[in-house]
Amino acid sequence: PQIPVICIDGPTASGKGTVAAAVAERLGYGFLDSGAMYRITALAALRAGLAIDAAHEHDIAALARTLPVRFAEGRIYLGGDDVSDAIRTEEAGMNASRVSALPAVRLALVDLQHAFRRLPGLVADGRDMGTVIFPDAPLKVYLTASATQRAERRYKQLISKGISANIDDLRADLEARDTRDSTRVVAPLKPAQDALVLDNSSLTIEQAVQQVLDWWLERQ
Ligand code: C5P
Repeated sequence: PQIPVICIDGPTASGKGTVAAAVAERLGYGFLDSGAMYRITALAALRAGLAIDAAHEHDIAALARTLPVRFAEGRIYLGGDDVSDAIRTEEAGMNASRVSALPAVRLALVDLQHAFRRLPGLVADGRDMGTVIFPDAPLKVYLTASATQRAERRYKQLISKGISANIDDLRADLEARDTRDSTRVVAPLKPAQDALVLDNSSLTIEQAVQQVLDWWLERQ
């Protein structure tokens, strides 16, 4: 039998990461934050002096294939360097979106993502988990929320970390990122045909987590 996977895809700041991590915790499953892979790849490229554009696609893909990335106790390391905070800035998100539009880079990260599928199961968070990486997953959720809600969520996250932010700029940034992610040729952001859509605009985290768990139970 296949190792179970729950895919949670959706646009920027829809709450996917929080919901996916909580579902994984409740089920005792592993958790794949695929966005972090793109964020780290972008960071590694810039540190290697590679501009993130089509001219450097193959060099960046080569880098991605041998990325010395390590996830340990909730922290993320690139080589020996703890990059957990460096990859969470808005700029790092925008760079990740640019690097993720390069087809060779996406291909280079496939094996790394598949390696997360281990017993007793996996919750995978991203844009193409259900459409491309784990097409046979028994549960695919497309978690979305209005742009206003998402901008507010991101704003509160940043303020709580003591980072100043402007809500209108955040909204413009996330809409730009969504447009790039949805219109790219390879693995565009869109719900899988068999995905269940969950609108997180007016749900608490607990309600969203419970809905995903209910859907998962229905499938057992
Ligand atoms: O989810 P997160 O904001 O960390 O993702 C950063 C960027 O990485 C996204 O805007 C998207 O462009 C890209 N990404 C992707 N495919 C995934 C996960 C993230 O293209 N599975």
